Amino acid sequence: MIKNMMAAGLVLAALQGCGSDSDNKNGENVSKGPGAALKCTSSGKDAWDTYQAAGFVAVNKAIIANVFADLKANGTAKLGDSFTKIGSGKPPSTADDAATFEGKLAAFLVYAYGGPTSIMYTDGKTYSGLQDMTAAHVGLAITADQYNYFVSSIIVPALTSSGVPSGDVTSCFAPVVVDPTFVASIVGK
Ligand code: HEM
Repeated sequence: MIKNMMAAGLVLAALQGCGSDSDNKNGENVSKGPGAALKCTSSGKDAWDTYQAAGFVAVNKAIIANVFADLKANGTAKLGDSFTKIGSGKPPSTADDAATFEGKLAAFLVYAYGGPTSIMYTDGKTYSGLQDMTAAHVGLAITADQYNYFVSSIIVPALTSSGVPSGDVTSCFAPVVVDPTFVASIVGK
């Protein structure tokens, strides 16, 4: 497990700083997501600089695993039926298959928390983190209750089970996903 995470981390790390239209002339990434401004209490650095590729891969895979475990345990009672539509194309925002969804979620999280604008994920494919959250969720009619459950019962446990201390969850992860403008881009679309 640890070995896999490290291998995955190397794949991502190798892509850091590689060309994207937001890189400056030194190849440094200048387009930063909202989490870049947050400092983790454990390190004084943003989440990407603190947890790096291996940490983000672990958290992303834990989020996916938690979603499917929850659907198995609770059916659609807590999360609703959105995730059962992945890959169906109905609504059109669900056109991506499960593997693409996983890669795009990873890229979004990396970008949102201070990392590069695009990454190579563990499947060897490159995904952009610059994604429109409203377009990604339109037609799903996600409720505020489903959103809050997703954050508190899927994302937070994914972070803590991957080794993120609760002080860092609060300081350098939570503010991005509780920001009212961000929530409004996903809920009720
Ligand atoms: C912190 C909150 C959330 C973040 C950061 C997030 C992130 C993302 C991203 C990056 C995508 C694009 C992936 C793609 O187009 O394939 C996506 C799509 C999606 N999200 Fe979310 N999401 C959040 C909340 C939710 C919630 C609360 C639900 C349902 C209860 C949900 C269900 C879905 C579904 C079904 C898709 C479409 C996947 C597909 O294309 O097949 N998301 N999300």
